[in-house]
Amino acid sequence: MGLGQFPPHSDKKCQHRRSAIEADLPGLEEDIDLLLRLIDGFSRNGGGSRDQSFCQAVRGALLEGGPGAGKTALAKSLARHGGLPSYYCSCPSLFSRDRGDAERGLQEIFQTCIQKAACSEKESCLLVLDDLDCIGKDRKKARHVSDLGILAMLLECLDHLRGAHVFVLAIAGDASLIDVGLLQPGRLEITLKLSSLKQEQREKILANLLGKLNTKSPRAVEESSIQYSGRLLDSLACRTRGFNGADLAYLCSSALTSALRRSQSSDHVCIEEEDWEVAMEGAHPIDIPWLFVEGARLSDLAGMDEIIQTVSETILQPLLQPEALRAMGVPRASFGVLLYGPSGTGKTTLGLALAAAAQSHASFLAVECSELVNKVVGESERAVARLFQVARHRAPCILFLDHVEAIAGRRGFDTSSEQTMDRMLSTLLMEMDGLTAGDCMHDRTGSDMVIVVAATNLLSMLDEAFLRPGRLDILIEMALPDKEARAAIFLLHFSRMPLRFDTAVRGLKSEKNSTFTPLHEFAETMADLSEGLSGADIQGLCQEAALLALREDLDRSYLLPRHVMEALDVKRRNT
Ligand SMILES: Nc1ncnc2c1ncn2[C@@H]1O[C@H](COP(=O)(O)OP(=O)(O)OP(=O)(O)O)[C@@H](O)[C@H]1O
Ligand SMILES: [Mg+2]
Repeated sequence: MGLGQFPPHSDKKCQHRRSAIEADLPGLEEDIDLLLRLIDGFSRNGGGSRDQSFCQAVRGALLEGGPGAGKTALAKSLARHGGLPSYYCSCPSLFSRDRGDAERGLQEIFQTCIQKAACSEKESCLLVLDDLDCIGKDRKKARHVSDLGILAMLLECLDHLRGAHVFVLAIAGDASLIDVGLLQPGRLEITLKLSSLKQEQREKILANLLGKLNTKSPRAVEESSIQYSGRLLDSLACRTRGFNGADLAYLCSSALTSALRRSQSSDHVCIEEEDWEVAMEGAHPIDIPWLFVEGARLSDLAGMDEIIQTVSETILQPLLQPEALRAMGVPRASFGVLLYGPSGTGKTTLGLALAAAAQSHASFLAVECSELVNKVVGESERAVARLFQVARHRAPCILFLDHVEAIAGRRGFDTSSEQTMDRMLSTLLMEMDGLTAGDCMHDRTGSDMVIVVAATNLLSMLDEAFLRPGRLDILIEMALPDKEARAAIFLLHFSRMPLRFDTAVRGLKSEKNSTFTPLHEFAETMADLSEGLSGADIQGLCQEAALLALREDLDRSYLLPRHVMEALDVKRRNT
């Protein structure tokens, strides 16, 4: 579909909106123009007139582009300034619910948008579906039946929209992996690709980034050092072929870091050509190995009510009800939370479960920190910086750093000649300070909030600077479960297992001079016998019990309490 087929729009209000979005995303003017025309045409149609030009008939579009191309930022800016009420859905967060709930969740989101449209003056609403790849994969490549279920639901929801005025803007990394059914007329009819940036686009983006450097720097950036920007922009734009917006932003912050390191003055800093050289050396596109979050829920964790309460108060409530917090005079949520404790106590599960708990109010990114450590000099700290960059783009966002000791280890213990660990730590500290000192502070509504949730089982290995208040304000200990917690964990697992108490068990129990125990009592009994075990041990023990029961009789469809007892014996023998 060529651009020429769309009628230009001249409405003043629309021009104003366009300028606001262009200011957010310089260099993407053509893409912004097309999207605005589509949305504007659609909402005019939604307003009642039924003279359908092509532009007015399009009900949905797919925005395609590689990581860091600015897809989410563009969609969010459109949502903010596009002139329609909007709803943002990060598709991976749909899976953080119970099986079958993803479909229901998707349906609810569409329903909400239909209602929003009905209540809006324009009778239209914009729905952004980010990371469509994870629910709209090509059906021929589906690995699970559940992939097909959610795809079918999405198709149904899109078709159901035909009578409602909801414009769907979906985002995907690669349109060729998306099911063709979704790209049919009446659904996501137009695919718009954010392709690699041309020289003049890079120039505009760099000019915008240079203009903002001062706000990011702890010391004033000397004007003259950015004033030679005409020549500088030219040469930088030439040398950054293949860079996307995020790469360019990293380049600029690297040059600033280099200048800050070099500069003697305490009140200002001057970015010289040599700083750009240093920045260029380490600059090329980089990808983050994100953890795919699927299925973790707070209800998977038993015996941790207090911890879950603290997490809700410090992380979730500020995201879900920022106004209530502001009314109390608290400007924003904590900046960072550390979950620490022995292995198997549910830190990762709790961290990942936040995705589901905060869904629809915040995006969620998770990473296993050891995966960021790269043998190539300079790559590791770039990966750390990139993490935060992406998180800021997706704000409000929870950034979960699992096994954070891999990047926040104590200074001075790094024996490698490259000092990679120390440099990663420095980058991490700088980025965390950026969250507190940068734009977030000005926005008291919480919409630019990035909350870091880190987890470790090696607290003593962490550098003290990382734990300083203002970086990680709240430390939550996740100790081995006490008796009461163990009973709750056993109960949770027992309630999901086909556990049967038959006469044989009564016999076994009475031999041990105990009365017949229903589920609760049996959980209490097991809790008494399992001191020192973690939540993961208890889970493993229940799985082992099921295996023992099957080993006895492959056709058995239930297990007996004695299998659980035997599994505990096996566990004790092996430790
Ligand atoms: N309190 C609990 N209730 C129910 N299940 C639990 C609990 N604690 C841990 N588990 C289960 O144990 C398994 C391992 O937990 P998880 O990976 O979250 O531990 P961890 O603290 O991150 O361990 P590590 O420090 O080794 O990374 C998970 O499947 C989780 O569901
Ligand atoms: Mg873990």
